[in-house]
Parts: sequence; C-alpha cells; structure tokens
Amino acid sequence: MFEDNDYRMRLEEAVQQNRRQIGRDSYRLEYHMMPPVGFLNDPNGLVQYDGTYHAFFQWNPFETTHGKKAWGHYTSEDLVSWKMAPVALMPDEWYDKNGCYSGSAVEHEGMLYLFYTGNVKDEENRRSSYQCLAVSEDGMAFKKHGPVLHVPKGYTPDFRDPKVWRENGDWLMIIGAQNEAGQGEAVLARSENLVDWTFIGPIAGSGRNGLGDFGYMWECPDLFRLDGQDVLIVCPQGLEAEGDKYHNLFQAGYFIGDFDPSQYTYDHGDFTELDRGFDFYAPQTFIDDDGRRILLAWMGMSDDQEQNQPTVENDWIHALTIPRVLGIEGDTLTQNPVPEIERLRGERRHHDILLGAGEAFREEIGSCTEISMDFESPVEGQFEMVIRNDLKVTYENNRMVVERTVFSGKGTEQRAFFLEQLSGMRIFLDRSSVEMFINGGKEVCTCRFFPNEDDTGVELKTHAEVKCDMTLWNIKKDTIDMY
Ligand code: FRU
Repeated sequence: MFEDNDYRMRLEEAVQQNRRQIGRDSYRLEYHMMPPVGFLNDPNGLVQYDGTYHAFFQWNPFETTHGKKAWGHYTSEDLVSWKMAPVALMPDEWYDKNGCYSGSAVEHEGMLYLFYTGNVKDEENRRSSYQCLAVSEDGMAFKKHGPVLHVPKGYTPDFRDPKVWRENGDWLMIIGAQNEAGQGEAVLARSENLVDWTFIGPIAGSGRNGLGDFGYMWECPDLFRLDGQDVLIVCPQGLEAEGDKYHNLFQAGYFIGDFDPSQYTYDHGDFTELDRGFDFYAPQTFIDDDGRRILLAWMGMSDDQEQNQPTVENDWIHALTIPRVLGIEGDTLTQNPVPEIERLRGERRHHDILLGAGEAFREEIGSCTEISMDFESPVEGQFEMVIRNDLKVTYENNRMVVERTVFSGKGTEQRAFFLEQLSGMRIFLDRSSVEMFINGGKEVCTCRFFPNEDDTGVELKTHAEVKCDMTLWNIKKDTIDMY
C-alpha cells in the first residue's frame, strides 16, 4: 500500500462532518447525483451490470478543487433513484497515488472490469500515467490489478481516460492523448483478454483527417455505433473561441463518421458541440439492457468562476447531468432525458398561451419543476423567457442566447448558439441547475444557476405573437440517497 492508506478513514470523516451543513444548503440538488462532500467531476464506468445501473464519478472528498481523485459510486435500478455505494477506487497504490482518474467499465463472464488512469506526480510535479485495471465479482468491491498499458513512444504523459468496448471478438480501448508534437489525439489499443493490451495508434486528432489545429489534448474519448453511424465523442482542450462557439474553458462535442475496425481508421465530418450551456463536460455513454445508448456528463466546468459558486461555502461543488438517451437525426446527435425521469412528475398544470406583441405571461414554479413547451408554429420575432429571475433565454433571428448572473453576483454572462427555428423545449429545473432540451433534443443547454429562494416565477415575453402549449410538473424530490 502507498502512503495514503488512511484515505478511506479521512473520506468517511469528511462525509460525516459535512452532513449537517448540507441539510441547510438550499442549492443542494434534489434529483441529480452530487458528491456528499468535496469536488465531483467526470462520470466514470457507466454500465448496467446484472440489471443494476452503476455510475461512478471522479471525486476529491477533501477539497472543492481538483486533487487526488477517488472513484465515488452510485447505483440505481431505474436511472432515477440513485443510492450511494462505498467508494470504489482510492488512490492508494504507487501507480495511482495522485488520483484514480477517469475510465470505463465492461462486464465479462459475470465480472465487472474497470479501466482507469493511474495519475502519478513526482517531487517536481512531473506526471506519469498508467492505464489500470480493477475487477469485481459483485459490482461493489474492486480488486486492483495494476497497470495494463503504459504510455507508448511518441506520446506525453497526458494520456488518459480509457474507454473499452467489444468489437468483433476483440476488446478495443480508446484513450485521450497528447502526442509529442503537442497535438490532441484519440488513440486505440486492443486486447483479447482484457489484461494484455497492444497499442495500435491514433484514429483521430488535431491536424488529422482534414482537421486543422484542434487542441493540445483530447480528453474522455468515446467511440460507438448508433443507427448505423460511428460517433466519436471527445473533449478537446485548447480550442479558440470562434463566433458563438467554444466559449467554455474546454469543449465537449462529437464527430459522426465511419470507423473501420479491420484497418482501425475513422473518417469523420465536422466537430459539433454537444451542449450549448456553461456547465457540461466529460460526457460518457453506455448501452443498457434495452439497447439504448445513454449519456451522463459532468454538469460543471473548472474555470475562474468555479470557486465563486455558493455551494463551496458548504464544502461541495458540481453534479452530474440527468441521464439522456442518444439518437441521430441526419447528422445531428440528439439527447433527450430517459423516459424513466417522468416517474418524478407530481402535480401537473397546463396552459394554452397566446401572447400578442408586448404581452407577458407569468407562472409560479417550485425549485424542482419540469416545463414542457410546444409552439404551435415556430417562433417568429423576439421571444424571451426568464426563469427564477436569474436565467434569461432569448430567441431571435435564428439565435438563442442564454444569460445568467455570474457566480460572484456582479453582472451577467452569456452563451449563444444558432437555432434554425424554435418549435419546442423541455426544461428540467433542479434547485440550482437547468437542462433545456430544445426541438426534440437537437440542441441542449445545461447550466448551473443560483437564484434567490424567493424568486419563484417563470416569465414569458414576446415582441411578436406566440402561441404555445405549456405543461408544468412539480418534480418529486429525494431520489438521491447518500450514505
Ligand atoms: C476531465 C479530466 C480527465 C481526467 C479527470 C481527472 O475532466 O481532466 O481527463 O481523467 O478529469 O479528474
């Protein structure tokens, strides 16, 4: 065992100490997975194993910043109610002593295999990375097997986030990498037995397949087949903002293309951002027993504003998105909430709304509400919606703008995106988060926001005529069971 063999004890203490404080925190979410204390980032190891859904997550229990990550663990029978399980992986071996970084899970012959990156720093803060394996017979207790793949020649130690899947009787692993020329890449390795891995090489990256300079590092790659197309999700770091695009610190998006598993090549089209909001990163997908491709992401972003989030006072920060089912329409990847989430619907209200130019509509909402809006004909002219006096959504001239109060409380900030038309929206509000699924999930916008408790309205305004159907449901609470 490595130096930090009291990690588990310190973790339990941190969780217990923070319990009372968290009870008083009005920004604590009701139906999203969060850390009991400390910092959460990427979802990891998503899998349905022996019928039960598992969502692991990057977790620093001791601070509200990045640090020595463990794999926290939630399980669920229905993708809606989640129960926290004991921590699955702790950074307590020489090959992962500075963090059990992101990775994935596969089931094989009744066992659950976790692949993750062991992050190691030396005294001079130089990094080493190892792709590691841990195996479980029950999905709860994991035995570490140590490194199964070392950083190959031609790559820097920024080499991480293994995602493993079965392909034609072999196992393939896709890894996020930086080559020695400082370009981000997604690279492959293969194995026949999940233990012995051979490096293959890059299948996509900055400066490859017709892409220009496209980032100095690619994190969290995920390659899968959906409706006859091969989708590569990846998080490039180092893209410059371009018009309305790429305004977050790092980006999360996808390519659609054609993967040839006999040649290990991938032809693809353009990169598209998966989400247009402020808080969406490091998504991961899995297939469940019903054959659905489901995505969860980190509902957060590490940027300058992060430490101004009011939850930091209560010693926790960030959450995961709700699970979303993926689909493809033309060359667009769609995301929609898993239908199971509708089980949370409580009291329902419905309005047929007709607004003339300059008119407004207001409705009281609870802090956990689902709002569904269908526009009788696509919106023309300007349309505005303000949620809890904090988040403002404006649609005009094929462009949607989302504006929130900055976390320090001074001023506002925006994200914007092209939207050919506005025909419908489904909005999921939790106490301090909003996820908007627009036009059947063709665009999604995910944001944290921190409204005052007594701001309880949703307001609509228009400078043209808008006719829409609005249904609201109170969302039943308490679906997250922390230990
Ligand atoms: C993405 C990421 C991954 C890494 C993990 C560390 O947010 O940087 O590349 O494995 O977080 O927590």
